[in-house]
Amino acid sequence: MEKTLVLIKPDGVQRGIIGKIITRFEDVGLKIVAMKMVHPEQEDVDKHYALTEEWMMAVYTKAKTKYEAEGKEFPFVDHKAYGGNIKAGLVDFLRSSPVVAIVAEGEMAVSLVRKMVGATEPASSPAGTIRGDFSHDTYALSNEQGRPLRNLIHASGNVQEANNEIPIWFTDIELHKYEHVNDRVQYDAKWFLPE
Ligand code: CDP
Ligand code: MG
Repeated sequence: MEKTLVLIKPDGVQRGIIGKIITRFEDVGLKIVAMKMVHPEQEDVDKHYALTEEWMMAVYTKAKTKYEAEGKEFPFVDHKAYGGNIKAGLVDFLRSSPVVAIVAEGEMAVSLVRKMVGATEPASSPAGTIRGDFSHDTYALSNEQGRPLRNLIHASGNVQEANNEIPIWFTDIELHKYEHVNDRVQYDAKWFLPE
């Protein structure tokens, strides 16, 4: 079964929607196998959002594409200028209040949680997603105000990211192995069959 990392960011904690967010993951049938509140250190954020060329290019391309789709000129010269700026803002933001770190487990958990979280920009994230339902922030406003998007939540982007991220926030002993009723109802082939 896949495991994925979720962080409820400072805006999610401050908005008082920790419970609502966790409920969505329980409702869909995922198993919470680790959870804690952490006030991150610079080092945690540095490891979590590693300032790689690839990451800078990804955040740059996503935001620039959105600007261009709206017929606007993107106000940053290149991925390094934009990526460095985003990263610096994220470090301050994630350290501004405690965050809630969660590991959820289940069949295809990584892509399932991404689907539930929605798009990076809350305003273009569909209704029904966490970012679409609880926020309406935009690239335009966050860039204009020189701050990161207030998009409430982080979720691992793929299995590789999940495997890299989980050990940043949890030790092996904090990752619980236990049987949940849903394990039988959702995944046990013999659940309702006679012995
Ligand atoms: O979180 P997600 O995987 O959807 O997006 P990302 O491209 O991996 O970017 C990581 C985080 O950087 C986002 O969730 C935002 O908090 C922040 N970011 C931002 O504030 N402004 C951007 N233009 C791009 C990213
Ligand atoms: Mg990401």
